[in-house]
Amino acid sequence: MRRKMCGIAGYIGDKKAPIILFEMLKRLEYRGYDSAGIACISKGRIIVSKDKGRVDDVRKKINFKKVPASVGIAHNRWATHGIPSHENSHPHQDCSKNFAVVHNGIIENYKDLKEELLQLGHKFRSGTDTEVIPHLIEEFYKEKKNFEYSFVNAIRKLRGSFAIAAISSNESDRILVARKESPLMIGIGKGENFIASDMPAIIPYTRNVIVLDDFDYGILGRDSVQLKDIQTGDELKRDIQRVSWGLEEARKEGYEHFMLKEIFEEPDAVRNALKGADEAERIASKLAEYKRIYLVACGTASYAGMVGRYLLERFGISADAITASEFRYSTINILDEKTAVILISQSGETADTIASAKGAREKGAYLAAVVNVVGSTLTRISDDVIYTYSGPEIAVASTKAYIGQLVSLTLIALFLAMERERITREYTNEILDDLNGIPDKIQSILHEEREIKRLAQRLARKNIFFYIGRRLGYPTALEGALKIKEISYVHAEAYPAGELKHGPLALLEKGVPVIAITPNDDLLEKMESNIEEAKARGATILTVGESGELNVPITDSLLTPITYIVPLHLLAYYISTAKGFDPDKPRNLAKSVTVE
Ligand code: M6R
Repeated sequence: MRRKMCGIAGYIGDKKAPIILFEMLKRLEYRGYDSAGIACISKGRIIVSKDKGRVDDVRKKINFKKVPASVGIAHNRWATHGIPSHENSHPHQDCSKNFAVVHNGIIENYKDLKEELLQLGHKFRSGTDTEVIPHLIEEFYKEKKNFEYSFVNAIRKLRGSFAIAAISSNESDRILVARKESPLMIGIGKGENFIASDMPAIIPYTRNVIVLDDFDYGILGRDSVQLKDIQTGDELKRDIQRVSWGLEEARKEGYEHFMLKEIFEEPDAVRNALKGADEAERIASKLAEYKRIYLVACGTASYAGMVGRYLLERFGISADAITASEFRYSTINILDEKTAVILISQSGETADTIASAKGAREKGAYLAAVVNVVGSTLTRISDDVIYTYSGPEIAVASTKAYIGQLVSLTLIALFLAMERERITREYTNEILDDLNGIPDKIQSILHEEREIKRLAQRLARKNIFFYIGRRLGYPTALEGALKIKEISYVHAEAYPAGELKHGPLALLEKGVPVIAITPNDDLLEKMESNIEEAKARGATILTVGESGELNVPITDSLLTPITYIVPLHLLAYYISTAKGFDPDKPRNLAKSVTVE
């Protein structure tokens, strides 16, 4: 199935909608940058301006004076569903052009719906699944000249996932929205209201936010927000949350890229995640009741899960770390009410992680989530949540959120081990003290930025990298390699160091960089032997360690994943910029993978 993921926004008030909508899209650009577009109601007509390309490029093509409008919707697209093109860009319209729709998600039954609509005489302009929605609305509008009736009946015909916003030139005083499995929130202003896929688009205008639940739909006026259940039509009450994130947190604050800013926020990420200690203790006391524990996540978050597993195993507690896209189709079969699942996600919106949670819930498992984004889907389907409080992470490559996840999982592992009487309160307090000292240690690594940058410039010409580590060093190797692949487009492989001889060694030759994670622990000698093996094949060795080329301060071995990854984040960042790439927006990738 071809998939897409996107950002949507909407505004209704008395200000200039096109200007606000483009500002909002800019803050949602991390969700997709293949195309951008807006639809506004101007003098009783819907005016659509859209094209492929980035938000700024599309904005330049618009003469804002020609669109005096105070109601509109907007979209930016991350495409794999059809090429990025003008036709496939959102908003999409019906035949009469009385309706415009933006959509994030996937309409699984769009082919059948399109077939029905074609037979009814509708003409399609794009190859997208989304376009069936305005045509369905148009069709229902023929039955009863009522926008809400047509919208909700159209939505009821959709299978799949969606966050949708729609406007109509017939009823220009409202925006209609609906949500199922794709994020959508409403910002409540004074005499104006907003919709967006994510907080950073809303917080410059208002801090009062309602996060829609699955199967909610809403009718937004300038002064009103009404929410109803898609299936029953019953009116709903949802809490207004006060968001504490400031806009400044969502901006670059003078850093060249969000990724660099976010790496420099890693000391704070540790401090902030430590605020979740009480929650970690509460979750650990529940986890203690369960026989089996799984740590489930995708990408970088899954490496945090692996660290969690190694920590628990260190304390003699059995645990498994499994990537969500595999867990949901296989491991799920052996789950029962004696199982606990720890789900880890920065966004709390990752499709495979959410599907794993839902599947585990059906099997009666206990669900604890480690999440950054407050109010995200995962937080609402889990039994308990520990927030990492890392603040908005805008760069596609996850950095500070990973650090936050490591801290939260370390807290959970420590409290669980104490609960199971594997470690004492005194030992736990010792490690907690060490954890409190980690922000300064990270700071001292960040002070080495210039040396790391120089090293990166030397390495920027290499087109293959190996990362090796053992035990807690292995997930660090995986995360280091993922980061460099993701933003520098070079081939990077990570292996448990003991695996080199089982095949990968054949790839080593003169000058190939091998980055070895070498914490000063009982496995150091084994790592040194592996390094010798690689050296003997001419590889260029770079060690991350207490006296490595990438230097890290002395740290208790349990906490090394938190410090050892920091120079690797910086290294990946500077290799990417040395190659002239934009590390914030890697090709083919999007920040939140909200579809499978
Ligand atoms: O929002 P999540 O933590 O659930 O996202 C999981 C992965 O998509 C994410 O970590 C991805 O691997 C990053 N781009 C890695 O830098």
